[in-house]
Amino acid sequence: MNFPKNFHFGSATSAYQVEGAVNEDGRGPSIWDDFCATPSNIRDGSDGRVACDHYHRYGDDIARMAEMGFNAYRFSVAWPRILPEGRGRINPAGLAFYDRLVDGLLAKGIAPYLTLYHWDLPSPLQAQGGWGNRETAWAFAEYAEVIGRHFGDRVHAYATLNEPRCAAFVGHYEGRHAPGATDLRLTLQVAHHLMLAHGAAVQRLRAHTQTAKVGIVLDMKPYHPANDHPLTVRAAEMGGGIFNRWLLDVLFKGHYPPDVWEGFGPLVPHVEAEDYALIQQPLDNLGINYYTRALVEYDPELPFPHAREVRNEGAIYSTMNWEFYPEGLEEILGWVHRTYGVKELYIAENGVALADEVVDGRVHDPLRTQYYQTHLAAVSRAITQGVPLTGYLAWSLMDNFEWGQGYLQRFGLWHVDYATQERILKDSAHWYADFIKNR
Ligand code: FCB
Repeated sequence: MNFPKNFHFGSATSAYQVEGAVNEDGRGPSIWDDFCATPSNIRDGSDGRVACDHYHRYGDDIARMAEMGFNAYRFSVAWPRILPEGRGRINPAGLAFYDRLVDGLLAKGIAPYLTLYHWDLPSPLQAQGGWGNRETAWAFAEYAEVIGRHFGDRVHAYATLNEPRCAAFVGHYEGRHAPGATDLRLTLQVAHHLMLAHGAAVQRLRAHTQTAKVGIVLDMKPYHPANDHPLTVRAAEMGGGIFNRWLLDVLFKGHYPPDVWEGFGPLVPHVEAEDYALIQQPLDNLGINYYTRALVEYDPELPFPHAREVRNEGAIYSTMNWEFYPEGLEEILGWVHRTYGVKELYIAENGVALADEVVDGRVHDPLRTQYYQTHLAAVSRAITQGVPLTGYLAWSLMDNFEWGQGYLQRFGLWHVDYATQERILKDSAHWYADFIKNR
């Protein structure tokens, strides 16, 4: 495989999914604490109160990452640890935790990738309308100011938001994530406010950084028609238009895609005249989260884009019911590069959930190794074709709280025994560590 010399190899996590310690050192509540308080929202009735106890075990976790040869680690900062009320009062103990984390990583030569928002909005801001309220964008900019001023160039890269598409659509339309709304008009307004938050945060981060890269992380998947009927082809085009182009266009072209805008009809967001310029900030990089593709059929019973996902019989599926489709990663990378001309791209998340079992102290997960091998090969092919890729961060470092699926989905390179917090490197982790070392 073909990877540049300084390429980053590592893994990713997010605050609520691994930290635990939700009531420690002055952390305020977030919408995920609230969402989990209704047990039926989470498939196993669980929550992130303890999770992987990374808040206390980060030292050992960093040591283990270093042993695996990582030179990068992506984590997120919990906004409610830094500003427990969402705005105003800064909590020094919250900043101190991320100081320990960042300094611990740097001491081991691991480049910190810091995400400011991985879905844990402070509850007091939700009480004022959450992302449906334009003010939340300015609250986020204040938070970005605090983080940028404090960490400056100590981190390698900042991402303002993780998967704003998912935060908007899964949290406000599908209702499967916090805050659990099911309103498409609200969803599109939320997505727009997230874009404003991003633009304003980029400006604040720029004011405090010289070398640190500033960007955003988006989830993407190709949409493929399951047959060649023109209505199916159109459904795939519009489905992908919502999933991929809606935010990429506004971020990099300065407007929403006209075909999708028209498809949404009266539900399109309210946009102020100056918004597009604020959103379209020059970025140093773009993180891409890739898991699978969508294979769709036209279904007139469904609202726009009339796309129903169907199964690819014969393909391998994960326990998330996501198809193994490594070619899609190469496709997405080539398409983003050609269409948007981003300076640098990196894989911010890529991985697979499987029904892992511990047998005699080991976890044999050949399918996960196959997943990583084939997706790394896709990244390598994209590099050969000239896509400016700089890193690959596997999702995830360890099994963790998988949102609405609780602890039922195991995405980790490390198996976590939640009763003892013992970590075991799965076979795929040994494979990944060898891959990194033998390059
Ligand atoms: C992504 C999220 C990440 C994790 C993976 C499986 O959408 O960013 O937190 O849940 O999916």
